[in-house]
Amino acid sequence: MIPDEIIRDVIDAVDIVDLVGRAVDLRKAGTIYKGLCPFHGEKTPSFIVTPERRSYHCFGCGMHGNAIDFLMEHERLSFPEAVRALAHMVGVEVPEPRPETPQQRQARAEKKDEARRLLDAQAALTDYYAQQLFGVEEGLAARRYLIERGVSEEAARAFRLGWAGGDKAAFEAWMRRAAIDREDLVKLGVLLKPDEGWGGAVLGGGYLRFRSRLMFPVIDINGEVVGFSGRLIEAGKKAAKYINSPETPIFTKGEHLYGAHTARGAARRAGRLIFCEGNLDVVALWQAGFEGSVAAMGTALTQKQARLCKRLSEDVLCLMDGDSAGRKALFESLLTFLDEGIHPRGLLLPEGEDPDSYIKRGGVTALQQALRGATPLFDLFIDKVVEETPPDPMGRAEAARRLIPPFSRLDDPLTQALYREQICARLQISPQAFDLAASRGAPLSPAPPPRPSTGDPAPPSWDEGDRNQSAAPISVAEGKVVEFVLQFPHMLTRVGRDFWRENLTHEGLIRFLAGLYSEIERGQPPNIDRRLTDLGGSALASQLWEWRARLPSQDEETIQDAFDQAIGNLQRRRFERTREDLLRALSVAFAARAHDRCHALQAELQDIQKRLTALKPSK
Ligand code: UTP
Ligand code: MN
Repeated sequence: MIPDEIIRDVIDAVDIVDLVGRAVDLRKAGTIYKGLCPFHGEKTPSFIVTPERRSYHCFGCGMHGNAIDFLMEHERLSFPEAVRALAHMVGVEVPEPRPETPQQRQARAEKKDEARRLLDAQAALTDYYAQQLFGVEEGLAARRYLIERGVSEEAARAFRLGWAGGDKAAFEAWMRRAAIDREDLVKLGVLLKPDEGWGGAVLGGGYLRFRSRLMFPVIDINGEVVGFSGRLIEAGKKAAKYINSPETPIFTKGEHLYGAHTARGAARRAGRLIFCEGNLDVVALWQAGFEGSVAAMGTALTQKQARLCKRLSEDVLCLMDGDSAGRKALFESLLTFLDEGIHPRGLLLPEGEDPDSYIKRGGVTALQQALRGATPLFDLFIDKVVEETPPDPMGRAEAARRLIPPFSRLDDPLTQALYREQICARLQISPQAFDLAASRGAPLSPAPPPRPSTGDPAPPSWDEGDRNQSAAPISVAEGKVVEFVLQFPHMLTRVGRDFWRENLTHEGLIRFLAGLYSEIERGQPPNIDRRLTDLGGSALASQLWEWRARLPSQDEETIQDAFDQAIGNLQRRRFERTREDLLRALSVAFAARAHDRCHALQAELQDIQKRLTALKPSK
C-alpha cells in the first residue's frame, strides 16, 4: 500500500497539462485546455483538462480522472505502477511496499504448509483407493462394474479411479502406515469425527464418508488431487448416486471442473473444449478420443468454472444430456459463458441419452457427426424462446424481453447487429420494437428531429411521461442524482437499471435513464446529447439540458462519494415514504382488528426500519 499523502503529493506535483499534452494535442481555452479525447474516436473536441483541479474529463465518453487515472487508462498501467512512474517524473520518493509483520508471514506460511500437507494426503488416498480397486479381492465388484460400463483399465488409470470399500480397520492400518494425521483426514472430509470426540474403538469411533463407492479423484489443472467424487455402483440404493468432498481448505465447490487436468493440453490441441455433465461422460469421451472434455460435477456452471474453461480453450462446446436437467443446464450456462467472453456452441443429445450412452450406441463416428451439428448456444436459445412463446403481441414481447440478457452481452457490434436482424425476423418485430425491449421503454432509433421552440407542439414521442405526469414534478433529491448522471454518465454503472424504477417517481425520467442502460449494455458509453435530443422539446428535456450544461460542481475525486450520498438520500426518501404508508395502513388494520394483516405490516415495517438504519447517515 502506497501511503495516501504520497499519492496526494504526486498528484499535486504533476503538471497534468504537460502529462496529458504528451498524448493529446491540447488547446488553451480560458482556464482549461481542450482536445480530442484519446479514449474514444471523435472529430470535435469534448475532452478537457482542468489544471486547477488537476483533472481531465471527456464529455463525450465520460472518461475522467487525475494524472494517475490517465496513466492507468492510457498506458495500461496498474495503480502502483502509475504512481511510481509519476513519482519518478516529479522526484517524489515512494517507499517500498511495507513488509509483512512476522505474524502475517507466519500465518501465511502455516496456511501454505497445511495446503501442501492436505494435497499430499489426497495423493496418498488416491493411491490407496486405486490399490483397493486393482489389487485386492474387495475391488472385484467395482472392476466388474467398470467392465460393464465399458471403462478400460487404461482409462481408469489415466483418471486415477479407485474403490473406497469402507473397511474401517483396513483404513486405519493404511492411515498409520502412511503416517497421515487423523485430523487432516477430518479436514479433508474423508473421516468424520464422532460427536462425543475420538474414542478407543476402530478409527477412534470415526466414520468414513466414502463407503462402497467408485472414487473419481477431482484433479485440478496442475495435476493435484483436490477432492473426490464417489459413485455408487449398485443400482436401487437409497443413497445419493454421487457424493463429493465437502468444502475444505483445498476444495471449494464450484471452483473445479472434473477432467481439467486431462483436458488441459488436449483441448488446446483440438482447439475445442467439450463441456458435459457427468464424470463418467468425461471418461467415456476420453476413451473415444475426445480428451479435451470436462464436467461441472453437479453444480450449475459457476463464473469461476467458466473462467477455467476459457483457460482450457476459447471454443467451448456444451454437450448436455437429453433430459430436462440437461436442457436446463445447457441454457443456464449461456449467460455465465457470455459474461466470460465465451460464445459457446451447444448440442442437446436425443432424449434419454448422455455422451457415454451415445458413444456406446452409435460409436465414435456418430458422436463426431453429432458434434459437427453443434450450433451457437444463443441460436438454440432463440429457437427455444420462439417455441415457448405464443406468436401474439404479448408472447412476442415476452420473447424479446427474454432474449435481451444474452443479446446485450454480445460484445462485438457486428455480431450484435446480425443477431438483432435474426431475432427481429424470427419474432416478426421491427428493430425499433426490439430496441424498446432492450431499453424498457425508451426508443433507441430513429431519433425524432429536435424541435426548436417555434411554438409548434412537440412531436409525439414515447417519452411523454413528463407531460402526462406534469403533476409530479422532479423532486430535489431526484434532480440531484440525475444531474450527476448527466454530467458523469459513467456513474450509472454504480447502480443497476432497476434502481431508478424503484426509487424515482417521474416516469419520463425513469424511461430516459433506462434508455442509457441499453447503450451501456451494448458496451457503448451512453450518448447523453443524442438521448436528450430524442426527448424533443418537452419540459423534461429543457430541465435535463439545463442540468447537463451546468459545470460539474464537484471535484473529480469526491464525485463518487457525492453520487453515492445522493443515491442514499434518494433511497432514504423512498423508505421513509414506504414507512409512512405502512404506518397508515397499520392504524387502519389495527382499528379493524385484522390481526394477520397487522402482523404482516409490522414485519414489513421492521424490514424497512432495518434498511433505513443500514443506509449511510445523510449529510
Ligand atoms: P448424472 O446423473 O448424469 O451422472 O449426473 P453420470 O456421471 O452421467 O453417471 P451415469 O452415467 O448415470 O453413471 C451428472 C453429474 O452430477 C453430479 C456428478 O458429478 C455427476 O457426474 N452428481 C450427480 C452429484 O454430484 N450427485 C448426485 O447425486 C448425482
Ligand atoms: Mn449422465
